[in-house]
Amino acid sequence: MSKPTVLIVGAGLSAFVLASKLYEQAEVTIITKKSMCESNSIRAQGGIAAAIAKQDHWRWHLKDTCEAGRHHNNLHAAEILVKQGQQLVKELLEQGFPADCKEDGLPQLGKEGAHSYRRIVHAGGDQTGKYLLNYYQSALIDKINIKENQLAVDCIVEDGCCIGITTIDTNDHYHTYLADHVVLATGGAGGIYETTTNDRTVTGDGIAIAYRAGAILADLEFIQFHPTMLVTNDASNELVSEAVRGEGAVLIDQNGNRIMEGKHERLDLAPRDVVSRVIEHALHEGNSIYLDISSVRHFKQRFPSISKACEKHNIEWQNGKIPVKPGAHFTMGGVETDLIGRTSIAGLYAIGEVACTHVHGANRLASNSLLEGLVFATRLAEALLVPVSRCPSNVRQVISKSVAIDMPAIDKVQVKMSRHVGINREASSLKEMMNWLDRYTIMKEPKLRNYSLTKEECEMQHMLLTAELITKSAYQRKESRGAHYRIDFPESSSEWQQNYIRWNSYKQGV
Ligand code: SIN
Repeated sequence: MSKPTVLIVGAGLSAFVLASKLYEQAEVTIITKKSMCESNSIRAQGGIAAAIAKQDHWRWHLKDTCEAGRHHNNLHAAEILVKQGQQLVKELLEQGFPADCKEDGLPQLGKEGAHSYRRIVHAGGDQTGKYLLNYYQSALIDKINIKENQLAVDCIVEDGCCIGITTIDTNDHYHTYLADHVVLATGGAGGIYETTTNDRTVTGDGIAIAYRAGAILADLEFIQFHPTMLVTNDASNELVSEAVRGEGAVLIDQNGNRIMEGKHERLDLAPRDVVSRVIEHALHEGNSIYLDISSVRHFKQRFPSISKACEKHNIEWQNGKIPVKPGAHFTMGGVETDLIGRTSIAGLYAIGEVACTHVHGANRLASNSLLEGLVFATRLAEALLVPVSRCPSNVRQVISKSVAIDMPAIDKVQVKMSRHVGINREASSLKEMMNWLDRYTIMKEPKLRNYSLTKEECEMQHMLLTAELITKSAYQRKESRGAHYRIDFPESSSEWQQNYIRWNSYKQGV
């Protein structure tokens, strides 16, 4: 019997964890928009959260996850994350993952915002994502197929079942990949914002193609803004990890006043949405905001990539101050799945940031994203190893049509999203965004490939559709909760707590 085929779209941690668990029993192909070395995971600095310290317990991690998520979380998903996550991180360490350790050989645990305990396992100081990807990728070379420079255009759905993906390459040639199982691991949508910590390749592709295919999406209004990106003179997107505040750095203005005092009981280690709003407000008032790192010991050694980024941008961290501002960071919503990664379309799965299990609620807890990748990729692998009946694979011919469509420049979309659907939203700003989007043709039918678009046009279609879904979701949620702050509805409402805004192109449309 031939091995089942698994097609994974994306090259971040969840993609490689899944591949590593499946390659012996399945033929695995990873397709990625650029190269294996470009993903958000590789940029992850802080680490991977797990309640592995003696005095800690997964129940405390669960409590912190749900409090940061403003109890919009699916409790069952969150319990799986922290409980199975604890086990998997322990296994990873036992198997030799090179985490930073203390002299006694036990892992050095960092602290980040809204965590009650030190529970962040890290590697290479502030290079945990890079180390994790190296760990998985190096074991997989020659064992799986990797296709780079392939932008996913469409899910191929026949008789209600996803049987493959259409892609477009850098020469605008279309390709078809068929598989028994198709897994979206494309990351979120931070790249549709002007100021973002994300890799520029992360532009909502998985969200858009799943929507056009008819999959259910949810929670798209919850976009997390990381409080501390490096302020530079160019459009670079360097992060300054929250772990820096975990080691004692504090946020100050140009006069040296601590800006988090009186704002939250956890001060500089308050949940991200709180800290981002305080910084945004201070910047709006004309202040400059800095991380005062003077009390952080061995800064260069503990944070080698952050100190290097500062040096690259002529920021003299040795003087004890690093200029910072918030940037779009994490998409809590996405393609809705069950707790083993199944979407509402047979044969189509989603894991990692593109998926929405509602595990993070309205605001993800720091360092729970690598953990999500590890846990939910492992769960999907276990599910896929159970033999399943295959979907038919009779792909109908692609009919090409030429259409003349006008499209905005990428930076126009990014600037508009930051201005109108950013940290603070209100009906008027959201309406302005919707009106602006209405000027453009946004294709919502399942077969984008039929229109002979170029690669840039396909990517722009993904961005526009994702931007529209995020904006409309933000408009619908008439309350403030976690990362979604409505100036015109500043309070949380119990009616909305477990109320999920969903989209489905077949039933509802946008
Ligand atoms: C950080 O290091 O601050 C980012 C890690 C995360 O988003 O969880």
